[in-house]
Amino acid sequence: MDYLAQIDKKKTPVHVAIIMDGNGRWAKKQGHERLYGHNFGVESVREVLKASTDLGIKYLTLYAFSTENWNRPKEEVDGLMDLLVRSIANEIEELMSSDVRLLTIGDTDGLPGSCQAELKSAMTKTEKNKTINLALALNYSSRWEMTNALKQISRKVSSGEIKEAEINDQMISDHLTTKGIPDPELIIRTSGEHRLSNFLLWQAAYSEFYFCDVLWPDFKREDLFKAVLDYQSRERRFGMVSEQLT
Ligand code: FPP
Repeated sequence: MDYLAQIDKKKTPVHVAIIMDGNGRWAKKQGHERLYGHNFGVESVREVLKASTDLGIKYLTLYAFSTENWNRPKEEVDGLMDLLVRSIANEIEELMSSDVRLLTIGDTDGLPGSCQAELKSAMTKTEKNKTINLALALNYSSRWEMTNALKQISRKVSSGEIKEAEINDQMISDHLTTKGIPDPELIIRTSGEHRLSNFLLWQAAYSEFYFCDVLWPDFKREDLFKAVLDYQSRERRFGMVSEQLT
C-alpha cells in the first residue's frame, strides 16, 4: 500500500519522537551479539530521518541512550558510545547537505569526553541548518530532567529571582532539557512494548502514541508513513468535545 500518497502533508506532525526498541532481539534472531542490532539500527535512523524530512516534519527526537542504559554490560555501553561517535563523524556531511540541525537532550555532561567533543563539533557545524531538527536523547530520562528543573526553579525562588506564584506550565517547560522544542504530537515505540520508559513524560501530556511490533532495525520509511497516517486518523480533543473542534 502507498502510505505516503494518503498522507495529508498539511497535517503532518511538527514533532515526532521515537523510542527505538528491539535492536537486541533483532540481533539475537540473526544469531549475533546485541551490538550487531545497534549497528543496523543506525541504518533505520538514517532512513527515518530522510522520510521525516520528506514529510516536512520539523523535529525528530530519538531516544538513543537513557540514564538507565548505563546499567547494561560495559561492552554494550562502550560499543554504543563508540557507535554514536562513529555515526556522527560519518554522517556530518550528509547532515549538512540535507540541512539537518543536530541537537541533544539529556545530561550530556555525563557522556564520555570523545562523545561530548564529537557532538559539540557537529552541533556547532549544523546550528544554522533549518529543514529539520534531529534531537538525540542521550543520557536522558524524564525523572532526571524534572528533578533538575525543580532544583533550578526552587533555587530561583529562594534567591528571590522569581516568586512561587509565577511558576506555571511554561516556566516548567523552559527549565527542561527540551526548552525551545515543541511538545511531540506523535510518539512511536517499536518492538511491541507498550510503555514510555521515562521518556518525555511532561512533554507527552497531549501526545498521540503509536506502538508497532516491528523491531527497530526493520523500521523503515513505510513504517514511519504508516504511523503518521494512523496519527492523522485520530481526533485530538485536548480535553474538549468533538463538536468544539472545527
Ligand atoms: C533499544 O533496543 C535501543 C537502544 C538502547 C539504543 C538505540 C541506539 C541506536 C539505534 C543507535 C543510535 C545511533 C545514533 C547515531 C542515533 P534494545 O537494545 O533495548 O533492544 P531489546 O529490547 O531487543 O533488547
